[in-house]
Amino acid sequence: MPNNDINPFYRRKTLTDINQFYGRKEEIKKVFSLIRVAESCSLIGERRIGKSSFLQYIIHPQTRASYGLPLERYIVGYFDFLGYTNLTPSDFWNLILEELSYEINDEKLSLKIEEMRKSEIKLQDLSRLMKELHQKGFQTTILLDEFEYAASNPNFDLSFFGGLRNLSTNCGLAYVIASTNDLLELYYVKNVIGSPFFNIFTNVFLGPFPEDEALELIKSPLEESCVSFSEKDVDFIFKIAGLHPFFLQLACYHLFDAYKSKQLKEEEARFRHTLANFKNDALRHFKYYWDNSNDEEKIIFAALSILEQRDSRGFRRGELEGVLDEKQLKSLENRGLIKNAVSPQTGAKPEVMVFSSAFGEWIVEEITSQRGTVSFEEWVDKVKPKGRINEAASAVRNTLSKVNPRYWEMLTRWVSQPGNLDKGKKLLETMFTGILNAGIICDFVFSQ
Ligand SMILES: Nc1ncnc2c1ncn2[C@@H]1O[C@H](COP(=O)(O)OP(=O)(O)OP(=O)(O)O)[C@@H](O)[C@H]1O
Ligand SMILES: [Mg+2]
Repeated sequence: MPNNDINPFYRRKTLTDINQFYGRKEEIKKVFSLIRVAESCSLIGERRIGKSSFLQYIIHPQTRASYGLPLERYIVGYFDFLGYTNLTPSDFWNLILEELSYEINDEKLSLKIEEMRKSEIKLQDLSRLMKELHQKGFQTTILLDEFEYAASNPNFDLSFFGGLRNLSTNCGLAYVIASTNDLLELYYVKNVIGSPFFNIFTNVFLGPFPEDEALELIKSPLEESCVSFSEKDVDFIFKIAGLHPFFLQLACYHLFDAYKSKQLKEEEARFRHTLANFKNDALRHFKYYWDNSNDEEKIIFAALSILEQRDSRGFRRGELEGVLDEKQLKSLENRGLIKNAVSPQTGAKPEVMVFSSAFGEWIVEEITSQRGTVSFEEWVDKVKPKGRINEAASAVRNTLSKVNPRYWEMLTRWVSQPGNLDKGKKLLETMFTGILNAGIICDFVFSQ
């Protein structure tokens, strides 16, 4: 009998129970269609978007079988590079062969693998083994999580990655590698590994869920529970978590807890409890996204969050065009950190906004808090900016004196870029003058 009291939502762990996995239908189809024909793919997604859960799901025998990849033929080896910074190629292959040996139902081959694992594993031996597997009708796929660690491991040199490519081209081996970045963008890959290895990969992006899959994630776990979420609850969850599976789980987890608490009988009290706990858990992830964004992205985040909060003043997406970098906007959208949605404040046509209202609040606090003891004038005096930067500093003097000093340099540099002096200055004035005059940095979830 299911226990109705148990919270069915997840707070942080990677999913290993396939019954708790939702959505990703398109991406799964795509990955399996590649594996079926021995093609490799690179799974790219922002931190916490669900890469490891995805790999756990597709590796599961039940999933493979249900997508028409019979276990007697399609075998997989899984390895997570997280924390393995100094692994040698031979150690790596030893671990992979151990994984494969559990999958192979062939005594002779299993013995052969056992033998190979007793000493240093060489590419020629692997090549022979993989060819034999191929001839015996096995299609082998290797799933590699946190591939960034492999790309920056000094023991994995050009010949190691060349070997991986060789095994794929000549012996029918396929790879599914998961990483946060498009690996070809990484310095190490560009300069040390070279691109030939990565030419064999088709990119599959993991982004936010489509709305129907997000609804499934919210509603299905409640089917065997005595709690149910109302439409208003769902709107509230979408508002604070966006369509991001990890944050959806987190918001649902705390709202479920609020329903179970005897003290929280009113909707508003439940929302307050959920938001406070959600923010607490989400904080370090928000900080990670912020710290791992470049200056242009930070400016986009700041502009969208601040202007969203003062939407009543009639700010529109159109005003951002030509000021914010379209390419960066697109990249943030792909990473799931901004979205096109109808603003709860105005209910008008969809506008671009930060994916989660709680993330927006965090950004506003970050960019406007911790005002130091040094005035903007004193800072300018100390730094002595020259040329365009000096011109920009004079233009934004009044505005930046009200911003967290940590961001003075970033914003001044941004305004000093060609074409930004007028528009950039106007945007900053719109953002910061409004914020400080109206004193609107507040918890706006309840201001609808
Ligand atoms: N398809 C899904 N169905 C339900 N929940 C999901 C799904 N994908 C992700 N989640 C939720 O997101 C959380 C994070 O997932 P996961 O650990 O797989 O992300 P990740 O991309 O590997 O993160 P990291 O980059 O930090 O390694 C899980 O604990 C789970 O709560
Ligand atoms: Mg992971």
